[in-house]
Amino acid sequence: MTQINKQVIMKTRPVGMPTLKNFEIIESSIPELKHGEVLIKILWLSLDPYMRGRMSTAKSYAASINEGDVIIGGAVGKIINSNTEQYKEGDIVEGFTLGWQEYAIATPASIRKIDPNLAPIQTAVGVLGMPGMTAFFGLLHIGKPIPGDTVVVSAASGAVGQLVGQIAKIAGCYVVGIAGGKEKCSFITETLNFDAAIDYKNENINKKLAEYCPEGINVYFDNVGGKITDAVINQLANYARVAVCGVISQYNLTKPEPGLRTHRSMLTNQATTEGFLVFQFAQKYHIAIKRIAKWIKEEKIIYKEDVIEGLENAPDAFIGLMNGKNFGKLLIKVSE
Ligand SMILES: NC(=O)c1ccc[n+]([C@@H]2O[C@H](COP(=O)([O-])OP(=O)(O)OC[C@H]3O[C@@H](n4cnc5c(N)ncnc54)[C@H](OP(=O)(O)O)[C@@H]3O)[C@@H](O)[C@H]2O)c1
Repeated sequence: MTQINKQVIMKTRPVGMPTLKNFEIIESSIPELKHGEVLIKILWLSLDPYMRGRMSTAKSYAASINEGDVIIGGAVGKIINSNTEQYKEGDIVEGFTLGWQEYAIATPASIRKIDPNLAPIQTAVGVLGMPGMTAFFGLLHIGKPIPGDTVVVSAASGAVGQLVGQIAKIAGCYVVGIAGGKEKCSFITETLNFDAAIDYKNENINKKLAEYCPEGINVYFDNVGGKITDAVINQLANYARVAVCGVISQYNLTKPEPGLRTHRSMLTNQATTEGFLVFQFAQKYHIAIKRIAKWIKEEKIIYKEDVIEGLENAPDAFIGLMNGKNFGKLLIKVSE
């Protein structure tokens, strides 16, 4: 029986902020499985800001997709047919390139088996997956917080940011989150126990940073770049560490945004800034997964998901991610 696969393709390359016109939903038939391949039914699709980079031709750490290609994306699914001894029908797996589609063909090298007893399976693309690994290693290896440090994190209610702040609290730090809107700010202080929150859409960031961080900022975990980063860098403490994780405020610009000169602050504070890609820590993911899963079980870590039903809603949800509509880790529930 030929199965039909619903897929979301990039119809046209976005210029600036993506629109629904850049996407198309198509149906295709699933090819015959070759030796060494598995067929996966996608259950959960992860939507992440890096996908905007894949839709662009700008130089990056990974190849762009072309018009007509299925959009690249991490997903969790169930093996429904296997032509390899490494996986059997019913196994739950996660893969970073399974894509925006209902079914994916993969090889064992591109997927990993998920233990459904560890946590709900969709966490394999969330708190126990790529965003979780980013928060854990980016904060601890690049930010190097020590107890008593003041840690500031931007996009603080998002997939990465919410975990960064909570791990910094576990590490004994004073934590300030920057997020868009009252609701997100209340969530990070009241539910996640951050010490303070700054609503960058409605408050003066410079003033609020000075109020909450009177002795300067020791660690800045930067998810956004742009004006927020300019403000934070100008209030660094001596020997501060800036972990450059993402620059979402810049992903949809068609020309570079003029910014403040920040080197004076870097120099006078003898600060360090270091960009990182989570993949450099791949050999150590298993350590972080165990540690975070334990924190979740001990209720030391809370994770918030924003779940949208139906693959056909992925384009709209992705555009929302670029506009701050998501509240927590953005997931598409593709199938039961
Ligand atoms: N280096 C790595 O290996 C790595 C790995 C994963 C993710 N990242 C990066 O980490 C960052 C966070 O990713 P995530 O998955 O956790 O996404 P997310 O925070 O769950 O969602 C993105 C959030 O960014 C904020 N945002 C959007 N446009 C903004 C703007 N112009 N200025 C300020 N904030 C804006 C919005 O929150 P507000 O409503 O608060 O504005 C939005 O909800 C992204 O930059 C991503 O590219 C890097």
